[in-house]
Order: sequence, then structure tokens, then C-alpha cells
Amino acid sequence: MSDIVIRVENLGKRYEIGHLDPTGYRTGLRHAIQDALTAPFRRLTGDRGSEASRKRAAREVFWALRAIDFEVRRGDVVGVIGRNGAGKSTLLKILSRITEPTIGRIGLKGRVASLLEVGTGFHPELTGRENIYLNGAILGMSRAEVKSKFDEIVAFSGVEKFLDTPVKRYSSGMYVRLAFSVAAHLEPEILIIDEVLAVGDSEFQKKCLGKMRDVASDGRTVLFVSHNMAAVAALCSETLLMDRGGLHFAGGVEAGITAYRNLVSSQVDRWRWSSGPGREIGNERIALRAVTVEPVDPMQDRESTSTALKVVIDYEVLAVLSGVTPFLFLVDDLGTEIFNSVDLPSAVATPDRFLMGDLQPGHYRSVCTLPGDFLNEREYGIKVGFNTSGTHFEFVSREILRICFAQTQTMRAEYSGRWPGMIRPRLGWVSAPRCSEDVSDLHERTERGDARIS
Ligand SMILES: Nc1ncnc2c1ncn2[C@@H]1O[C@H](COP(=O)(O)OP(=O)(O)O)[C@@H](O)[C@H]1O
Ligand SMILES: [Mg+2]
Repeated sequence: MSDIVIRVENLGKRYEIGHLDPTGYRTGLRHAIQDALTAPFRRLTGDRGSEASRKRAAREVFWALRAIDFEVRRGDVVGVIGRNGAGKSTLLKILSRITEPTIGRIGLKGRVASLLEVGTGFHPELTGRENIYLNGAILGMSRAEVKSKFDEIVAFSGVEKFLDTPVKRYSSGMYVRLAFSVAAHLEPEILIIDEVLAVGDSEFQKKCLGKMRDVASDGRTVLFVSHNMAAVAALCSETLLMDRGGLHFAGGVEAGITAYRNLVSSQVDRWRWSSGPGREIGNERIALRAVTVEPVDPMQDRESTSTALKVVIDYEVLAVLSGVTPFLFLVDDLGTEIFNSVDLPSAVATPDRFLMGDLQPGHYRSVCTLPGDFLNEREYGIKVGFNTSGTHFEFVSREILRICFAQTQTMRAEYSGRWPGMIRPRLGWVSAPRCSEDVSDLHERTERGDARIS
């Protein structure tokens, strides 16, 4: 009982769309409108009689969190996971007391430090140095206490040179470095970190994960939102899986990640994605219309690892654009990027490199080929995006479709277990006793095609 440091009971948060939340949070509004329009529990309030009720009718009520119950014990490192819009940030804002719940109760034991969106917590006009002291004061620390931590905070953040610059001049990367450093070093009993770390470089992210581990091993409690399941698996002992405002699963990290994978894969299309009302992807210049993965040879089995596949990307250009460059990411079932392939206009120009010139508004198609005997017996996701003028980034989709492969016997010999690895390329192998043949001969045999391929 005394070990419980966070207790959440029947927590709910309702937003009225069309109204700004009184705390001044604007960030989620556009998404809120989108989500509310498609939410299964959408509901218009009021009738259309009087002026007042007409106003009410124009507003939509939307529950960003519903009926959330959980407890967190001291020293737990909890991964808060779930798809975009699931309610993770809303939950963290309530726990950080940045916003009020509509119903329900939260109990917190101890000092809470949180790092939410880039832009919260710091005062833009104050310098880095002043913000460190300000945050310390907010956490209830004396000047002397902050002073004793000051050098460590600055060293960890790596922003020494800019300590006396107002933080509004910081890049988002610098901002996050300092904000994380402050939150983690001021010895909160509960440390709450939203996805902001995704802004920093991977070196710094690693440092942060290490720091969070230290904080936790000191018996303090960490709540950590991430889309990176590898980081969650490495850092967390517990998970809270949020889905559409509800708590879908609470428990150990392995079971939580499995539940997350199942949830994501049950909500993502297989083999083909196409846009439609509420599922648009793009911007005012380019819109993604459909992405289909199919065998190059229609007679072959698309789920066999030895089948060559094509990824057919249909898109619409909405303005005159030059150097339109489609690209795709292949990701694993945890969302980790395995590779990125770009239809580069700057590569050797061939006559069909029409993308080099201006594209008129209209429908276009790009096709990327994935060789056979290259992917492994597992599930992969695909994300698609576009650059223009060669390097100007337009957008990248979330994971919009999944493909999965079953085992194929041709590359396995007698072995029937799970084949390890992200990919499974078919490579040439030759071998011989070291004394009887030299390496160059092995190379020759490979060239002649005598190598075993497996
Ligand atoms: N201030 C707000 N006003 C209206 N809706 C909001 C507000 N903040 C968040 N939302 C909506 O609540 C839902 C949950 O958002 P959020 O907690 O940010 O999700 P997550 O962090 O899991 O992506 C989303 O649909 C979001 O658009
Ligand atoms: Mg969020």
C-alpha cells in the first residue's frame, strides 16, 4: 500500500471541440477535430432550436480519456504506449497537473518532474541558466539545492555555450537536451517524460535512456511515452497500453509489447492501403492515393520469402512540382526502420526519369521492386513519403500497410525453427580446406556459379 506512488481512479477527460481548453492547450486541436469526426462514440449535443443550443450543437464533445484505473509502485519504470491520439499525452498532462481531469481522481506521492511537449516547462524569454533555477523553484527546491546540481545539469545537456541565451533562441534539439537534463537531475520522486526525446539525436537519446535507468535504480518512478518498443523493452518493467482513450492493457513489459503489436497489426491494412474519407495522407501539394504490394509474377505466392514483389505507389500531384521523389521505409513489427529506399531523380538519368522535370497536377504512379530471397519469415510495415526538388521533405506516412511472409523451404535445408534476423538475403557460400584451395579460387567458383546459395 505504502509502495503505491500513483493511483488513478475512473479518470476521464472530456474536450469540447470548437472551444480551446482553458489551460490554453492548442496542440491537439486539429487532431481532436479529425478524431472527433471519426470517433465511434461521437455525439452532437443539444438541439437546433435557440441560438444558445445552436452554438452547443456546433460543438462536439469528445472523451480523450475514459474510465482509466491503474496504480504505479515506487521504482517502477512504466512505458506508456499506444497509437497516435490514444490519450497518452493527455494522461501525462493530468498527472503533471498541467490540465484537470473532467472526472475521476489521481493520487500522487512525491515530487513530480515532467518533460512534455517541447515548449512546456520553460519560459522562452529567460536564459537557460534562469530556467534551470526557475524549474528548481517550481519543484520546490532551494537555490542552494539547485546550485549543487547546476554543473551536472549543464554538463549533461551539452549547452554550456548557450547558458546565457534566452531559450527561445534554442533549436528544438538544444531545448530538449536542457529540459530533459533539468527534469532528470532535480531528483523528482516521479519523472514523467513524453515523446519529446524523439527530437534529440540518437546519441543523446541513449544518454537519456541511461539517465532514466539511473533514476529508476535509485528507487524513483519513471513514466515514459515512446513509440520505440526496443527502448520500452530495454528500459521499462511495466506498461500501460492506451487505445482510443481507454486503458487497453496494464502489466508486464513483454505482455504489453505483445498486446501493442497485436493491436497495431489488427488496425493496419494488409497488402493494400487506399485513401478514403478520414484516411487521407498528404499535404496541399501531394496526396497519397493507394499503396499495393503484389508479386512481380502474378502466378507466384506473395507470402513466400522467395517471391519478388513490387510496391505500387499511386499519388496525386496537386500543384506544379519539380523533382518529385517518392520514398519508402520498411519497418519491423516494433516500428524500427530497417531500410529506406528513394526514387532519386539525381541518380543516373534515364529517359523515363520524368520526375526530374516539372510535374503537372494529375495522377502518377511509382513502382519499387523488392527482390525475392531478401526478406525474412516475419511481418513488416511500410511507410511512404515524398520529397520535392530532390531534397525538400514533404511528408511521410505512418505505417500504412503490413506484409508478412511464411517460411519457404528452399533456403532452409532441414532446419524448421524460427530463422533469426531482420532480413534474410540469399547469399553465396563456398568452402574448402584452407590448404587445398586458396581464397581466389573460392572467388572464381563463386563467379562461375558453383557456390551454394542459402
Ligand atoms: N486541448 C485539446 N482539446 C481538444 N482535444 C484534444 C486536446 N488535447 C488532446 N486532444 C485530443 O485528445 C486525443 C488524445 O490526444 P493525446 O493525449 O495527445 O494522444 P497521444 O499522446 O496518445 O497521441 C486526441 O484525439 C487529441 O487530438
Ligand atoms: Mg502524445
